[in-house]
Amino acid sequence: MGKKRRVGIWMYQNGGGDRIEKRMVKMLKDRGIEPITGLNLRDAYVKGGHIRCHGINMEKLDLFFSYNAGEQTQYQMYLYKALNRMIPCINNYDSFELTEDKFQTSYLLRNNGVSTPDFRLCHRDDSKRLKKFIRSWKQMVYKPTDGWGGVGLTKIDNEATLDTLLPFLNQMDLRFFYVEKFIDYDRTDYRVDIVDGKYVGCYGRKAGGTDWRTNITSGGSVFLREPEEEVVDLAKKAVKIVGLEIAGVDIIYDRKKKEYLVLEINGIPAFATPEQEKLGLDFNDKKIEMIVDMIDRKSAAKR
Ligand SMILES: Nc1ncnc2c1ncn2[C@@H]1O[C@H](COP(=O)(O)OP(=O)(O)O)[C@@H](O)[C@H]1O
Ligand SMILES: [Mg+2]
Repeated sequence: MGKKRRVGIWMYQNGGGDRIEKRMVKMLKDRGIEPITGLNLRDAYVKGGHIRCHGINMEKLDLFFSYNAGEQTQYQMYLYKALNRMIPCINNYDSFELTEDKFQTSYLLRNNGVSTPDFRLCHRDDSKRLKKFIRSWKQMVYKPTDGWGGVGLTKIDNEATLDTLLPFLNQMDLRFFYVEKFIDYDRTDYRVDIVDGKYVGCYGRKAGGTDWRTNITSGGSVFLREPEEEVVDLAKKAVKIVGLEIAGVDIIYDRKKKEYLVLEINGIPAFATPEQEKLGLDFNDKKIEMIVDMIDRKSAAKR
């Protein structure tokens, strides 16, 4: 018999993540796989050709499962990129890095037949063009391409707003302006979870108060939502294009164009928190099982 497979794990611990991790660890052990948790690449260093983390030579692992959104630093991304060349990583680094950037993702999706909000990009010195954009769109959203939680998103309602905003934008060390047409939607969205190309679950989010953003951090709230087949198919198609093993796809309905749009794809979609489970979000069991299945298959493939 060959040596036991070993799988490295770095998982978020807040919002019930610690309990999800414990369940995954147990299921992996039941399958004869040795899980090694807490492998935070921030603590790693490289010596003798090895990425060493907490006494483990990372490239000797059979797979690395990286699932921690809040704490990813540039250093960690740098090592994640190197490690991904040596062993299977979930998510794979290339797709993860792609979906960390809203422009790169929208560009790829749109050119592969997936509808997104109309977007434009121009050099930071080209504010003339930015003004042309707002004239043709009337309303647009300025977005940092690497943001999350609705932070830094700015709705621009007219040219005057843009004029007041420009000095601030110019102060920031930006390379470019990324803007999207402001979509007329009902201030709700779909979050569709996909694992291994398959549908896992869905919930909705609704913007709070007068905010136009559905993010929980912007005052939004979660609600139960059954997706139409069209929404699930759109999510699956988008994930296939970006190549993520695990993904959460944010979708809204454009009331003007009468079509669903992919807003963004999240490479570390959170499991339902204990509070959300009480609300009726019941896909955690299924999601854990599908991820464990995939880890089992992909860690065996390396041998
Ligand atoms: N083009 C748009 N038109 C209208 N609303 C938008 C648009 N883009 C984003 N939003 C709203 O803002 C929220 C956050 O945008 P998103 O692109 O998902 O960034 P983040 O990564 O910060 O969540 C979305 O959930 C949606 O409610
Ligand atoms: Mg979002």
